[in-house]
Amino acid sequence: VTGSGTRVGIVGAGAMGATHARLLCASVPGAAVVAVCDAVAARAERLAAEIAGGVRVLANGFELIGCADVDAVLVASPGATHAELVLACLDAGKPVLCEKPLATTASDALRVVEAEAALGRRLVQVGFMRRFDPGYVDMKAALDAGAIGAPLLAYSIHRNAMPPPGFGTELILRDTVVHDVDAVRWLLGQELIAATVLTPRPSPRVPDGVLDPLLVLFETDAGALVQVEAFVHAQYGYDIRCELVGEVGALALAPPATVALRRDGREGIAVPMSFQKRFAPAYVSELRHWLASVVDGVPAGASAWDGYAAVAVCEAAVESLLSGSRTEVASAARPALYAG
Ligand SMILES: NC(=O)c1ccc[n+]([C@@H]2O[C@H](COP(=O)([O-])OP(=O)(O)OC[C@H]3O[C@@H](n4cnc5c(N)ncnc54)[C@H](O)[C@@H]3O)[C@@H](O)[C@H]2O)c1
Repeated sequence: VTGSGTRVGIVGAGAMGATHARLLCASVPGAAVVAVCDAVAARAERLAAEIAGGVRVLANGFELIGCADVDAVLVASPGATHAELVLACLDAGKPVLCEKPLATTASDALRVVEAEAALGRRLVQVGFMRRFDPGYVDMKAALDAGAIGAPLLAYSIHRNAMPPPGFGTELILRDTVVHDVDAVRWLLGQELIAATVLTPRPSPRVPDGVLDPLLVLFETDAGALVQVEAFVHAQYGYDIRCELVGEVGALALAPPATVALRRDGREGIAVPMSFQKRFAPAYVSELRHWLASVVDGVPAGASAWDGYAAVAVCEAAVESLLSGSRTEVASAARPALYAG
């Protein structure tokens, strides 16, 4: 951290890396994007050219993490690359905002948790931006204030218009449902301890061999039930819904619309077509909180432990998908660093 602010290096210049880079430049005072890299160099060069002030393009993430003028690292490459990159950040003592998932296997995510616990201070934030979405924040505040009594049921609906090419059934659980898992763990303050995946007849618009939509039933350690619907070929938009049912009431996320159009005998609101649009305020808040935590050293958002817990829950869901039966979540002991 210097007089010119916090110098951020970004690993991965795809959809999320570019989104974060643009938001850091436009909406996060005190942040300067100084370095980027991508496995496809032209992509990093294109993003660097878009950012004012001279951004260096580096050969790979490890080189970027090692740069003396990179104070903090944002990892937005694919999930399978995350664990090694985050471990390198921990080695270098650099704060890192790692996009979800923290790793593609629970054992890799646990290696990150163990490395950070051994270091004895929190440097890792995982990019679960729903924790910063105004609607989710209000929902958690209302639940915590006792608005509906103790929660009994949670419904989480996650629909994408269309996924990236090659997005298979396991990825729907590991990359999509992982958001719902984190959101529900955080909202309820409960652990998900078992998963049962149900597969209705797939939509004919889904590539051969892919099961979409999916329904996942999770059980929590406090006896609540959580139903997650993931449907990543939903065609009509990016639609995120959540409802919590408690002993004396229910809380539902309101749609993030500001106007309703009435015309030709109908009333309607727009459904966003992308996660970038739906969660724009959440990404900005996430980045601002991350930057504040880099400056003042007080952790914000989802920890490496939360990242691990979500991966472990999704791993159980993948096992349930493959076996066709209810699968318990195997969870390690939580290190003291993540108490509370
Ligand atoms: N929080 C969210 O809402 C959200 C939304 C979408 C994606 N994501 C996550 O963000 C990450 C990136 O997803 P995306 O949609 O931007 O994918 P993407 O394919 O658009 O971009 C990934 C980029 O990383 C590059 N890359 C691959 N291996 C690399 C490596 N070893 N080092 C550096 N760059 C490498 C690719 O060339 C590509 O440009 C994933 O982990 C994904 O799950 C999060």
